[in-house]
Amino acid sequence: MDELRIRGGNPLVGEISISGSKNASLPILAASILTAAPVTLSNIPDLKDVRSMLDLLRGLGIETTPLNAGKLTIQAAELTSLVAPYELVSTMRASFLVLGSILARYGRVSVSLPGGCAIGTRPVDQHLKAFAKMGAKIDLIDGYVHANTDGRLRGTEIEMDVVTVGGTQNVLMAATLADGTTVIHNAAREPEIVDLASFLRCMGASIKGDGTNTITVTGTDTLHGCEFQVMSDRIETGTYLAATLATHGCVRLLNANPSSLIAVTTAGRKFGADITVKGSTIDISARRSRLSPVSITTTAYPGIPTDLQAQLMVVNCLANGVSTITETVFENRFMHIQELVRMGADIFLKNPTTAVINGVSRLSGTRVMATDLRASSCLVIGALAAQGESIIGRIYHLDRGYERMEDKLASLGGVVERTQT
Ligand code: UD1
Repeated sequence: MDELRIRGGNPLVGEISISGSKNASLPILAASILTAAPVTLSNIPDLKDVRSMLDLLRGLGIETTPLNAGKLTIQAAELTSLVAPYELVSTMRASFLVLGSILARYGRVSVSLPGGCAIGTRPVDQHLKAFAKMGAKIDLIDGYVHANTDGRLRGTEIEMDVVTVGGTQNVLMAATLADGTTVIHNAAREPEIVDLASFLRCMGASIKGDGTNTITVTGTDTLHGCEFQVMSDRIETGTYLAATLATHGCVRLLNANPSSLIAVTTAGRKFGADITVKGSTIDISARRSRLSPVSITTTAYPGIPTDLQAQLMVVNCLANGVSTITETVFENRFMHIQELVRMGADIFLKNPTTAVINGVSRLSGTRVMATDLRASSCLVIGALAAQGESIIGRIYHLDRGYERMEDKLASLGGVVERTQT
């Protein structure tokens, strides 16, 4: 199994380019099923979750060219299977997003339930409730969701009981081929939803209100092929921002999407960093000897994303004072705390959703274990900032969501080596 060996203590300095967004690419790949025509995508990051989605698409009989310099062409001329199997859906929840696009195009589909995951139970009840309201018959048998319609899905009013990114995406895709108009109330507003809507519009869909909490989709009989460039990854951007702060570095991030990260750059400035934004470039300088603590509560967009909670916690671990971090999106997303404590952080849980962090002047390198994707990147940041060497185990989590992380860190002066046990 691969491990990362990191010798910490060097400030990150230099410039790197931000990759295409994982969380925008996955739903866009699933949405390419909506048309029989070829779709050409660019700025797709080369990472494990994208490869898993491409494996799933190929297993359904969809043709894809190899991913080359972020570009690939997909053609779902005719699906040879309408089943998304457990083996793929259980490794990556976003596979569940093929439900909406296959159901809308073929009127039936079977998708494995994703099951639990390290950061909480993560149900899909909102997805299923919405498809039932659109006229699908939903049966749960042997761990699979079997969805069937007599003909097309019907456009209708859908009220989401919780703000769900995946639920909004699944219904948004399906509604483009439904009969009539669908209105999604209490929709998620994440930039990745706006990117998906832009892609669907590029395929000929009629969508209004994406980026607000009410999205209106007027269904059409068919969609056509198109060329589309995926947005850049705001979570990768925020991760390197946190790494720059924690190591007191000076980094230029190119090809970023600063308007999707305003809550995070605002927090960065409160920590005491100088952050300037020009077009798609973000300059971060955190040369002050101690940062200020910043209390954070994660929320749906446009708040601080839950996917950056762990990385920003490391910055607070090294700040001069006390802060709290409250996680409101997932119920079990503090597993990195025990590992950070092993590196010398002073953190205790006030209650299951709030951590109290007493800043320390230094972390020390040690052996730690990654538990999920974003927790892994927080341990990398901790290790880069720590004195001495750290070894991070189970980094397959990291490979799911960060493109060429070791190369990017090395180009910023990070001393990072991948080894095998
Ligand atoms: C997506 C992101 C993930 C991010 C999360 C929240 C992708 C591939 N993943 O995950 O990185 O952390 O948004 O920004 O884009 N919920 C229900 N019922 C449902 C669906 C969700 O109760 O049917 C709950 C979840 O348990 C969770 C909350 O809603 O507590 C938000 O989940 P959701 O927005 O759906 O997350 P994902 O789409 O899975």
